[in-house]
Amino acid sequence: MSSYNTFAPILFLLLILITNNTQSEAQLSTTFYDGTCPNALHTIRTSIRTAISRERRMAASILRLHFHDCFVQGCDASILLDDSPTIVSEKNAFPNKGSLRGYEVIEAAKSEVEKLCPGVVSCADILTAAARDASVMVGGPSWSVKLGRRDSTTASLDLANTGLPSFKAPLDSLISTFNDNGLSPRDMVALSGAHTIGQAQCFSFRDRIYANGSDIDAGFASTHRHRCPINEGNENLAALDLVTPNSFDYNYFKNLIQKKGLLESDQVLFSGGSTDSIVREYSKNTSNFKSDFAAAMVKMSEFRTITGQEGVIRSICGALP
Ligand code: HEM
Ligand SMILES: *[C@@H]1O[C@H](CO)[C@@H](O)[C@H](O)[C@H]1NC(C)=O
Ligand SMILES: *[C@@H]1O[C@H](CO)[C@@H](O)[C@H](O)[C@H]1NC(C)=O
Repeated sequence: MSSYNTFAPILFLLLILITNNTQSEAQLSTTFYDGTCPNALHTIRTSIRTAISRERRMAASILRLHFHDCFVQGCDASILLDDSPTIVSEKNAFPNKGSLRGYEVIEAAKSEVEKLCPGVVSCADILTAAARDASVMVGGPSWSVKLGRRDSTTASLDLANTGLPSFKAPLDSLISTFNDNGLSPRDMVALSGAHTIGQAQCFSFRDRIYANGSDIDAGFASTHRHRCPINEGNENLAALDLVTPNSFDYNYFKNLIQKKGLLESDQVLFSGGSTDSIVREYSKNTSNFKSDFAAAMVKMSEFRTITGQEGVIRSICGALP
């Protein structure tokens, strides 16, 4: 009993030391690969730039890919895993199938990084850095990316189906989905500004343009009906920002004020609800939009990540090691 009394405080101290050590190991940092793969970020940027110069829309696709990774189990590259005996791929979830793109671009960046320093840099970090590089490439803001994420050993088709927002979601449900991911309504409005670039398929906005609702500009609706017939052309594309579809600017918010949001989930951000004032602010103040966007991207990319000894470093992003 007396030896227990003597050792208990020592054990307690040891426990604190171990816990602290694990914590400092498990933190993300901008210098994470400085010792083990100093050229990682440069290599990723070169690879992403090449892909975007080939097809400008790829910038949009990479931003969306990162978002769809982070909202399911955190930013752990779970989205990149293909079907296998142990994995039910998130790629087949309703919000992803036939629509999410850019997998091969991340895989190509990964293979460049593997040549340099095999087994060191996670797919989750590559996708996170790629999203920043994509933003910069199309005139969006830059931000510094903290690294040290690990790759998941699991994927969740169910979470991908339930945890990603629907293009028909009402405002309160959008707010709650973003809240589940540590993001405020203001973060949500800023991040939705990613729809200043990229394309959407007819099936995702058809109901809106044929509804004859009062929340849509009549000319905008009728123009879009040409390329999105009532019962065909599901995959026909329209720009999410009809004014400047290839550059990252605040026209997305100006469109919303004119009732020219393409998706219901876009227009609902400016439809008499609690987020109207934020949309109005961003439509006038691009520097506030861009700095809030950057801050929200960082917040999204650091929520619920796995670090330290958790998870793995995959050598191919689509498969477990
Ligand atoms: C607010 C909830 C959101 C909903 C309901 C939503 C829904 C959608 C839908 C339906 C599409 C078109 C997909 C297709 O038709 O193939 C799309 C495209 C896109 N989304 Fe979102 N999105 C949301 C938020 C975000 C966020 C937070 C980001 C990134 C930060 C983002 C980035 C993009 C981009 C860049 C595209 C164009 C992709 C491309 O051209 O390949 N979205 N989104
Ligand atoms: C909307 O208006 C058009 C043309 O006026 C009409 O053909 C269509 O049926 C209407 N749609 C709905 C859902 O009421
Ligand atoms: C944007 O907002 C910031 C801070 O709220 C302000 O300092 C700046 O003058 C505004 N810019 C414009 C163009 O309104």
